[in-house]
Amino acid sequence: MTRDEFLPLRDFIYEKTGIFFAENKMYLLESRLSNRLEELGFSSFEDYYFFLKYNNIDSKKELTNLLNVVTTNETSYFRNPPQLDAFKVIIQKNYINNNSISMSSPLRIWSAACSTGEEPYTLAIILLEMMEISRKNIPFVIYATDISSKVLESAKRGVYGSYSTRNMDNAIINKYFTRNGENCLLKEHVKKFVKIDFMNLTDAEAYKKYKNMDIIFCRNVLIYFDEKAKKKVIDLMYESLKPGGFLTVGHAESLHNISRAFKPVMFPGAIAYQRGG
Ligand SMILES: C[S@@+](CC[C@H](N)C(=O)[O-])C[C@H]1O[C@@H](n2cnc3c(N)ncnc32)[C@H](O)[C@@H]1O
Repeated sequence: MTRDEFLPLRDFIYEKTGIFFAENKMYLLESRLSNRLEELGFSSFEDYYFFLKYNNIDSKKELTNLLNVVTTNETSYFRNPPQLDAFKVIIQKNYINNNSISMSSPLRIWSAACSTGEEPYTLAIILLEMMEISRKNIPFVIYATDISSKVLESAKRGVYGSYSTRNMDNAIINKYFTRNGENCLLKEHVKKFVKIDFMNLTDAEAYKKYKNMDIIFCRNVLIYFDEKAKKKVIDLMYESLKPGGFLTVGHAESLHNISRAFKPVMFPGAIAYQRGG
């Protein structure tokens, strides 16, 4: 890949996704796209770019493949425990202790870059455990969205290997999964709380379906965006929260210089960002 081939491709990817490949990531992009070129029989990245830009049915289909290869989908069950402990405190204090949830207005949670599903299913397992301990019914729904069709299919299947489940206690695995050789199959009664769908975080129109959220998890995706895309996404997330709702971003991410609209709330080893009101 030459620099002249790299720049239009990376601008195209940025425009579609917010994901920004800096110039020192040229070889990364080259290695991720080379299989696509081979499969389509193109001899140069320039040909591939013009194919994507052509805007016919085939190029639209190829966009799906492109999104699958340019995204980084690393995730696991119970990732970053301090943030999950903060989630438990928020639920206990704001929703269980003060009885602010009812059958008619279930708790609305959104895992906004859910990858293969470990994050939204972790949240569902935590809530099921909290219900059992508190002996309270907490009606809830978890929306799980991503831009990669490949990870969404995998999330719907709900089959996980040992890498994904490495941070989970055996007791939790045995309770919520069925073992099948090396794999763990998530049980249907957990899956049914999670609604999985395609959603591009940089598409303002797409947020219409994701309003009035109590809690949003948007972890480990902002790192792939440039500042402009981060600001846009965080402003849209703010609007998607109920007044008083909470946003959690990745442990290595922060809203410093991105938004002043939220109130940072400190927990041991974690920060949650609260919408005022
Ligand atoms: C590293 S994973 C994070 C998964 C999970 N949130 C976690 O923290 O374990 C990042 C995910 O963001 C998704 N993603 C990247 N750009 C996106 C966009 N513009 N809209 C929606 N999802 C996006 C990727 O497909 C990928 O699955």
